[in-house]
Amino acid sequence: MAAQYRITILPGDGIGPEIMAVAVDVLKAIGKKCAIEFTFTEALIGGAAIDATGEPLPEKTLQECRQSDAVLLAAIGGYKWDSLPPQQRPEAGLLGLRAGLELFANLRPAKILPQLIDASSLKKEVVEGVDIMVVRELTGGIYFGKPRGIFSDESGVRRGVNTMVYSEAEIDRIGRVAFETARKRRGKLCSVDKANVLDVSQLWRDRMTKLSIEYPDVELSHLYVDNAAMQLLRAPKQFDTIVTGNLFGDILSDAAAMLTGSIGMLPSASLGASGPGLYEPVHGSAPDIAGQDKANPLAQVLSAAMMLRYSLNQPAAADLIEASVSQVLQSGFRTGDIMATGMTQLGCRGMGDALLQAIAAM
Ligand code: IPM
Ligand code: MG
Repeated sequence: MAAQYRITILPGDGIGPEIMAVAVDVLKAIGKKCAIEFTFTEALIGGAAIDATGEPLPEKTLQECRQSDAVLLAAIGGYKWDSLPPQQRPEAGLLGLRAGLELFANLRPAKILPQLIDASSLKKEVVEGVDIMVVRELTGGIYFGKPRGIFSDESGVRRGVNTMVYSEAEIDRIGRVAFETARKRRGKLCSVDKANVLDVSQLWRDRMTKLSIEYPDVELSHLYVDNAAMQLLRAPKQFDTIVTGNLFGDILSDAAAMLTGSIGMLPSASLGASGPGLYEPVHGSAPDIAGQDKANPLAQVLSAAMMLRYSLNQPAAADLIEASVSQVLQSGFRTGDIMATGMTQLGCRGMGDALLQAIAAM
């Protein structure tokens, strides 16, 4: 009997619907090959949800996600909603979803594909062989800390406030995910903080050091975030697994993504202690090219592969998807963001068709 999974798909805004359509087609094709049956249920999030219901994360969407085996999200946000206050913006929908599903661990792999070495803005010698996993804490830190808001004093002078806070328990649980991840990779973990200035980082560093006693096979190092940003660009191959808080992880994962040539290539997984995982590209909704069939769907497709691997325990199907991506790149197909001389440029749909052909031939 075929394995059956219930997947909530959240196309969101901008290029979201286009890249999601490709990923769903790829999943269906892979399902046929690997005897997997998917039931897809589409739900609203972000700007699309604001337009339809007035809120960025309708309760119905959260319920739908909770009842599924995994959630595949494309991207949210756009100019249209940029002037709304933070709590009503599309981004609040994504943050609410992460919090609502308690997805505290965000895994963002940045691995350079040999076919795309020349797409990186860094020298070939610097990026060749880069294979980094950023483990970003996702439901705490300054993104969620209280107090937060814009407050006026008696004389009407306003202050904007956010709070960077981590409890020991929050640090330990992301630390454990990171040590376990490093253990399955090359056994090196670099914890990134700002312990020379921030108390919250001092606690972070203390806990990571304590935890390392339980993982003698993992080599732990520490870097301040400014130095880490510099080292990522100077000598990225020194990194295996990086663990860091929510804000630093947001920034460093974009930098790590760019090592690989295009942020349009990178998938991510967000996992909790139990319940469905959330899979989404690292890139955003690219409103400037939305609806023009120019988007690169590969990060979305690779997110679907991560979903098969981490949430659905279907590694063979994940391998097939990743192989099809390598195959189309090997055949010289490129979207605009990774285009190079001598290659064949395709649109979003064209890239999807090329993937389906590659899968059919496997
Ligand atoms: C990301 C994004 C989000 C974040 C935004 C869209 C809220 O930049 O997933 O990295 O800051 O976490
Ligand atoms: Mg980001």
